[in-house]
Amino acid sequence: MTFDVRPLSPGIGVEIVGVGISPLDDPGEVARLRAAWLDSGILLLRNLGEVTPAQFIAFARQFGEPEHHDQVQFTLDGYPTIALVSNIEREGRPIGATRAGRNWHSDSQYLRTPPSASLLYASVVPPDGGDTLFANTVAAHDALPAARQRALQSMRVTYSRVRAYARSHPDRPPLTAREIANLPDVSHPLVRTHPETGRRALYVGGVQHGPRVDGMDVQAGDALLDELRSHATRDAFAYRHRWRAGDLIMWDNRSTLHCATPFDESRFDRLMLRIQLAGTVPA
Ligand code: OGA
Ligand code: MN
Repeated sequence: MTFDVRPLSPGIGVEIVGVGISPLDDPGEVARLRAAWLDSGILLLRNLGEVTPAQFIAFARQFGEPEHHDQVQFTLDGYPTIALVSNIEREGRPIGATRAGRNWHSDSQYLRTPPSASLLYASVVPPDGGDTLFANTVAAHDALPAARQRALQSMRVTYSRVRAYARSHPDRPPLTAREIANLPDVSHPLVRTHPETGRRALYVGGVQHGPRVDGMDVQAGDALLDELRSHATRDAFAYRHRWRAGDLIMWDNRSTLHCATPFDESRFDRLMLRIQLAGTVPA
């Protein structure tokens, strides 16, 4: 089987035409798909129609090991590696994570070992809004002057979910002592080297993850992170995905940031199935 690779935007992403949800037979083709993905940061498949959980998992396995999702209440019954992102409610409770990721972030930056990739399959989408934005943090890093790149290279950022919790979830009860003990702070490099491509990327997502630049005054550190995040998410490095039901996107958390956008939740449903692939400690 052969497939076409079409750029989604000048700065990031490819659409793959000619590949469906079924795993490819030829390992060489999987390698070619992976190379296109690594090179561009995000991979889009369209018009997949109805995809079953088992098909989604089999597709994801071509690229890595699906992880059990940490928020068990948002997983699909019987499928601990599939989480739901949705505003739909059943028996008065949301069936998935609502309003997930409405800030620029890389997934689970607050973990010691964040996922390498995340896959989102659009099952139900609103007619308007609910787009997802993506940005290429390798291209953003490469666009900085060499002296700036060198200055950033040794810096580290500490993420604290505890610090970020009240601001991110004003609607949820405060954390218990036991929950706090399960949310240790984590420090990661500000510039991470991609373990597969060797390229450097700005790892600057997630105000919702309570980042602080190590060894810097809090305000100055926040200003630095804001500046780098604004730089990395400029139009030149970004792509806005307008979802259609049956779309699947896999993004590389090591070389991209993404950001959910709002929609009219009182009128429309949105249901996305999500898988994360195991990653390595950022270096
Ligand atoms: C995610 C995420 C964005 C969206 O699932 O990790 O950030 O638009 N989702 O649903
Ligand atoms: Mn996310």
